[in-house]
Amino acid sequence: MKTIYFTDSEADLEKAAELIKKGKLVAFPTETVYGLGADALNEAAVKNVYKAKGRPCDNPMIVHISHFDDLKLLAEEIPEDASVLADRFWPGPLTMIMNKKPAVPKVTTGGLDTVAVRMPSDKVALKLIEKSGCAIAAPSANLSGKPSPTKWEHASKDLDGRIEGIIRGGDCQVGIESTVLDLTGEIPTILRPGIVTASELSEVLGKPVEMDRSLFAKIELKEPCYGEGSEAEDEDRDGGETEKASGMGPKSPGMKYKHYAPKGQMVIFQGDRAKVDLAVKERRQKAEAEGLQVKVIFFDDSREAARGFFKQLRDADDEGAELILAYALEENEVGFSVMNRMLKSAGYNVVQL
Ligand code: TXA
Ligand code: MG
Repeated sequence: MKTIYFTDSEADLEKAAELIKKGKLVAFPTETVYGLGADALNEAAVKNVYKAKGRPCDNPMIVHISHFDDLKLLAEEIPEDASVLADRFWPGPLTMIMNKKPAVPKVTTGGLDTVAVRMPSDKVALKLIEKSGCAIAAPSANLSGKPSPTKWEHASKDLDGRIEGIIRGGDCQVGIESTVLDLTGEIPTILRPGIVTASELSEVLGKPVEMDRSLFAKIELKEPCYGEGSEAEDEDRDGGETEKASGMGPKSPGMKYKHYAPKGQMVIFQGDRAKVDLAVKERRQKAEAEGLQVKVIFFDDSREAARGFFKQLRDADDEGAELILAYALEENEVGFSVMNRMLKSAGYNVVQL
């Protein structure tokens, strides 16, 4: 398949939107990461998203809308909390999970009765949704298991020849995926941490917001399946059910897969800064003396880390890094969200100092 590249001009966005309308796949920028978009209500189109990404069948998509009223087409009922949070955080990097309407195919929701919805703030994303007249299902535009794309070049590297279109937009300013908040239970619960933090959500709602407890556990990460598309309706779903039944697995199916993994071995150094500096230096010297290509990942602050972390991982691959030494971030607020990704990239390989 030949992938068509679009600019973000009005005329090009019209063309890209035409593709979406016809059930084709288009990668597009959002403020968080690039998304791989398809008409969320078109089963065949959504199945092709799983196929193009090599995405596990039980991993549901986030559905993107451009107007709050579009939510009525997707959610059975709109919880009061959703209206309050949308008022404050939409458009923006917050995804909310609600009970789905029957019109939303199960293939879009990975077989679940709930649907995840977000209104992105990126202007190009909003125009694409608006022009297509569809709610757009969009996972991150990477091959399953790879770091999420924060530049169009990343999406192109993974998906060129596998999808119909890619919009060459700007670089993503948030850089980590949206906060995923489950509103179907008694207490609003964060299933995936992001730039919108629990304390911000809790302040706006005026009540506690919980974190899914699996976010604090070391999860045994499963290999995502590549290649063939997977049937979301399949009953036999890759072990996820047993984990869920035992209450140990994450509530968000995507959180249990091996993710963001660079090609090289990755080690995180955590603890006293002076000790970390020394340990990184020594490890680097030793590895280089053995002839290994080494990359060090360090960020001054957590926002910068969010913006740059996935790019650093992809750069490491491009540079042929065989060993990646990363400085841990302080695990509060946004730092916690970046650490959630960093720990998975490194397969929880942490040196405590
Ligand atoms: O920032 C983002 O959210 C980006 C951009 C493109 O919007 N999208 C994104 O999609 O990160 P994806 O598919 O890579 O991650 C979606 C996450 C997965 O962990 C998935 O399991 C979870 O959201 N999710 C989606 N629907 C869900 C549902 N109904 N219940 C529980 N988790 C859900
Ligand atoms: Mg993803």
